[in-house]
Amino acid sequence: MSPTNQLVSEYAARRPVSTNWYERAQKVIAGGVGHDLRHFVPVPLYIQKGLGGRKWDVDGNEYIDFLLGNGALLLGHAAPEILAGISDALGRGTHFGNDHPLQVEWAELIHQLVPSAERVRFVNSGSEATQLAIRVARAFTGRNTLLRFEGHFHGWHDEVVHGFQPPFDADGSLGVAPRVRDNVVAIRDGDLNLLEDVLSRTKDIAAVILEPSGASWGRVPITQEFLHGLREITRRHNVLLIFDEVVTGFRFSPGGAQQLYNVIPDLSCFAKIVAGGMPGGALVGRADVMSLFEFTGDAKHDRHQRVNHQGTFNALPLSAAAGVALLRLVATGQPIQQANSLTEQLRVAWDQVLDQQNVAGYVYGTCSTFHVYFETDPHRVQDASTRHDLHTTDPDRLKGMPAGLIDSYTRHLRQRGVDIMSSTGGVLSAAHTESDIQQASVAFEETISALLDEELIVTM
Ligand SMILES: Cc1ncc(COP(=O)(O)O)c(C=O)c1O
Repeated sequence: MSPTNQLVSEYAARRPVSTNWYERAQKVIAGGVGHDLRHFVPVPLYIQKGLGGRKWDVDGNEYIDFLLGNGALLLGHAAPEILAGISDALGRGTHFGNDHPLQVEWAELIHQLVPSAERVRFVNSGSEATQLAIRVARAFTGRNTLLRFEGHFHGWHDEVVHGFQPPFDADGSLGVAPRVRDNVVAIRDGDLNLLEDVLSRTKDIAAVILEPSGASWGRVPITQEFLHGLREITRRHNVLLIFDEVVTGFRFSPGGAQQLYNVIPDLSCFAKIVAGGMPGGALVGRADVMSLFEFTGDAKHDRHQRVNHQGTFNALPLSAAAGVALLRLVATGQPIQQANSLTEQLRVAWDQVLDQQNVAGYVYGTCSTFHVYFETDPHRVQDASTRHDLHTTDPDRLKGMPAGLIDSYTRHLRQRGVDIMSSTGGVLSAAHTESDIQQASVAFEETISALLDEELIVTM
């Protein structure tokens, strides 16, 4: 049996209860899983409980968790402050379909923390936040085209589903009407001259949207100079700048990436951490732009001249309670600082592993995120004198590592009690500990040795 096949069967052998659940799931759940990223061969994880920086599957396997609810859990699993907020709200009912005081408190905290948040409007997810941002931008400018950058992820709705994974010019999904793409222009990030050129030539652009971390929470890094240049150019061309802070919000700083980098967008999208690990999101932005939601009492205006927005579960009381509890702690700066410092330790330790084994690759990331790049192009390895020469910002490379390598890497780490977020990277919480980092570094070291044995990665 090949080492890869052997690993797959050992992986399944450790997860008999999960395998049973997966067999049942495949008979009733379309695609077998609830999110494309959860699909995994031979069996997805079935998690029973989480506490702090760890979680346990239904087979009793323990994991140091660097997925953390797809990045939503800045305080880790079952944080007492969040649970107390939710259970307090729960005693009064789950949902009213009316506004309620916690929604206002939640909005006030966002307004206080996020520089661009003159006004806040709640939604249920990151995808809803970007969808609403695009609608508002079109309404405000009277223009139709959205400019986005290749590789950046903005959710699963029709308008943004293409362009985030290579090949970037291919359709993102079956089922999207071709005309949707007529209103979207996708270009490479990092090139201000290209941006200037496109904005000068294309008069119909309403907004530019991006992840201020760089694509996929920084897997493809961008520079602060690019962000500052982007702000200046979009302002000059009268085009709205939308920051998708669904991952960076309340993780990169209490005021998000916009505060960390001191670049203030016109609109920003939040989800994940903003709702304290519950479903929820927010579109925030300039008061004049967000005034498009306002009612004036004039029948013609209220019917025809505003942005229409409903949503049964907008600002769900339980999400608002979790969000308020979380943001009060975020405001202290302490959880972010704690997560950042642990992640820096992890990045250093994991990069040392690559160094010691002379692996063609490197570890990188910002704040409490980490990514690992493995160079598998023999020409680039041959041309590099040191590992440092392998650094790249090419999205085709950073997002195009072989699928077999990513699968094996993930499987080895899980077998050794570590779960990551996607591709090779993950996020940390304030609940992780130094001993989690040490244990995860041993798992990483063993994973690297195994991948070398399997010849899925190479040395310098
Ligand atoms: C940057 C970014 N934007 C938008 C989304 C979509 O958010 P949701 O999954 O809540 O719809 C995600 C989800 O991972 C994201 O990372």
